[in-house]
Amino acid sequence: MSFKFLVLHGPNLNMLGKREPGIYGSQTLDDINKSLQKLATELGCELTCFQSNTEGELVSAIQAAVQDCHGVLMNPAAYTHTSIAIRDALSAVGLPCVEVHLSNIHRRELFRHTSMIAPVAIGQISGFGGDSYLLGLRALFNFVKNQ
Ligand code: DQA
Repeated sequence: MSFKFLVLHGPNLNMLGKREPGIYGSQTLDDINKSLQKLATELGCELTCFQSNTEGELVSAIQAAVQDCHGVLMNPAAYTHTSIAIRDALSAVGLPCVEVHLSNIHRRELFRHTSMIAPVAIGQISGFGGDSYLLGLRALFNFVKNQ
């Protein structure tokens, strides 16, 4: 049985590489997606990667994922801290979700310490740059495999 996962990137992550490299590193979103695809090949699973700056598009992508995906790997970016709509979409579809962040959100401004998503995620990985995504994919894959 081959598993398929949706990788979702929230707002401003299309600017990675140029955006505050001291915080988010020098990897571009394309670099991150390529490293995820490489790991997916090793694990023997399939990925669909999608980035949006719009909350509704992310909600729609989560709703559509229930058709053919086994889980969601998501960096909700700034929506982490504000979006009840994304949290509700994840609850509604009931797919396992791993929340990832490039930076350690708990070492940063107070408003970043709260995640609307964490209570509906199976776990959160924060602070390891692009490796957060790779660790997140391994965690999601193992969770789904052992379900
Ligand atoms: C982020 C952290 C968020 O607080 C911020 O709004 C982002 C990126 C991260 O990956 O470190 O856009 O999710």
